[in-house]
Amino acid sequence: MNGVILAGGKGNRLKPLTEITNKHLLPIGREPMIWHSVRQLCQSNIKNILVITSTEHMGDIVNSLGSGKRFECKFTYRVQEETKGIAAALALAEDFSSKDKIIVLLGDNIFEYSISEHVEAFSQQSIGARVLLKEVRDPERFGVAALDEKQILSIEEKPTKPRSNYAVVGCYMYDHQVFEVIKGLKPSMRGELEITSVNNTYLNKGHLEYGFIQGNWMDAGTFESLQEANNILLRNNNNIL
Ligand code: DAU
Repeated sequence: MNGVILAGGKGNRLKPLTEITNKHLLPIGREPMIWHSVRQLCQSNIKNILVITSTEHMGDIVNSLGSGKRFECKFTYRVQEETKGIAAALALAEDFSSKDKIIVLLGDNIFEYSISEHVEAFSQQSIGARVLLKEVRDPERFGVAALDEKQILSIEEKPTKPRSNYAVVGCYMYDHQVFEVIKGLKPSMRGELEITSVNNTYLNKGHLEYGFIQGNWMDAGTFESLQEANNILLRNNNNIL
């Protein structure tokens, strides 16, 4: 399996910090934010990693990550020229993935515990996709999964009236069909290709599995969550539990 880290976007909610640098290079604990995603993938033995970011920040991202020697992995880089959504960024990974399964991390998501048990579960899954859920107090900020005892019933992106408190976190696992799924998507009301639409396509085919993550999880895209992520990784010395 290969890894993809998405580190594009504009970081609007963190302005003015993101006026001169990329969100994923802001410090979390003792390291730049994006190093956490790299460490997560490497700990799950995913060593072939594609990093996608915007034109203006690619130089700084490459300066920070390099070839991968420091992390004992191998990086490939791709530019997303326009911020057209998470699924549009992922579409740039088609050639890289060479028909293998992929683990996709949003570069602003911080997981206190390792994702490796979920990667292992996905490696046993013959087809389809797998998403990870976490109970949160503010589900309206996220993709939200409605569940019964056995399965996900639907996923809604930033609903005003969430049907549960289960956020779909920024770690997605896909078979190679994901690129055909993305080609069939239409832009949402905000003009983006939504990752939630990708996940709903798998759900409607009966090909979406899920798991629950342990420990703290943060989308470090706001000042409050950035501070929380910073506190947790500082306390844990940037180690993943
Ligand atoms: O954090 C989990 C949430 O992430 C999910 O629950 C939502 O379903 C999902 O849509 C996403 O919501 P956000 O509003 O937090 O997404 P954001 O625009 O902040 O982008 C998340 C990451 O994806 C960020 O690290 C940058 C990257 N990205 C985003 C866009 C829009 C790209 O690489 N390219 C893009 O065009």
